[in-house]
Amino acid sequence: MRVVSGIQTTGNLHLGNYLGAIRQWVAMQGALDENGGECLFFLADLHALTSGIAPSDLANSTIEMAATLLAAGIDDRSILFNQSRVPAHSELCWILQGTARMGWLNRMTQWKDKAGKNREGASVGLFTYPVLQAADILVYQATHVPVGEDQKQHLELARDVATKFNTDFGVELFPLPEPLISKAAPRIMSLRDGTAKMSKSDPSDMSRINLIDSDDLIAQKIKKSKSDADLLPDSFDALAERPEAKNLVTIYAALSDRTPQSVVEEFSGKGFGAFKPALADLAVSVLAPMRDRLVRLLDDRTAVGAELARGAARAGALAAPTLLAAQKAVGLQV
Ligand code: ADP
Ligand code: TRP
Repeated sequence: MRVVSGIQTTGNLHLGNYLGAIRQWVAMQGALDENGGECLFFLADLHALTSGIAPSDLANSTIEMAATLLAAGIDDRSILFNQSRVPAHSELCWILQGTARMGWLNRMTQWKDKAGKNREGASVGLFTYPVLQAADILVYQATHVPVGEDQKQHLELARDVATKFNTDFGVELFPLPEPLISKAAPRIMSLRDGTAKMSKSDPSDMSRINLIDSDDLIAQKIKKSKSDADLLPDSFDALAERPEAKNLVTIYAALSDRTPQSVVEEFSGKGFGAFKPALADLAVSVLAPMRDRLVRLLDDRTAVGAELARGAARAGALAAPTLLAAQKAVGLQV
């Protein structure tokens, strides 16, 4: 098994990213290490360029997000790096631009959403974003790609690119990567609106818990979170029409590694006046050690950069033979 995944470097990581993605990465690195596989996790700084991020924000967020991943438990069992430091991604991407079809990219919902009505004015990078993503995956001959539901279509495209390349050039170079969409990964919603997902792009900082937040801020955000005046029922299903209540119970369950049903059973008959302080204590106890590690790592940004450079060297060595095989397959003299 070879696991590859990336995350765009466009800002701070929050509780939704942790419970929905990073925690799965950390678990996977342990499982693969025991079974003799590799995990490559990277900061997609080249992809972030398509978001129009300011240069200084991009540089800072690459280091800060790398530090967050290290603080969350990504260690030497995985290969952690930033995408732009391994030029093989860009080199394979150009070759795969010849394989991917305009029609395929035109159907991508992320492209349609991000370009909106202004397709003529959108950057070419935004359009070919999924080809770079295919290169990220195929350059390592990845077998499994942990992603959120919204990235399934890009994974399909990577599989189509792999199939067409293998067929067109008569090679068996790229295995077809499987998406790994964790059923255990909860979808965490905004603390201000139980129907919107917790996101770094929400203008209100009170809507999310950032992994860098202090204990006081975490507790304050939970205490001020939107809830309702009803008591907690004895069944999680009974929260279907109470999105904010459902979200707070989901967060409690995820942070304590319990089922949401066992959480409502414990708090059944109590109101949010009792539930929120318990959730705040739990969140602080889980997040504080990680935040403290993060703060320490951010004290020495050069050291984090050095970690990324070390990861890039390891990743580059794995990518090189596949890139060379792709170059040879298309007839480049390299
Ligand atoms: P954001 O919405 O904050 O911009 P991204 O789209 O960059 O986050 O997501 C990075 C990773 O974190 C993806 O794997 C995504 O599935 C996961 N993720 C993001 N927000 C949430 C959330 N609210 N709940 C669960 N997982 C999330
Ligand atoms: N597009 C992904 C996202 O927005 C990030 C990403 C870039 C990625 N390259 C990847 C994910 C390769 C998995 C594999 O979340």
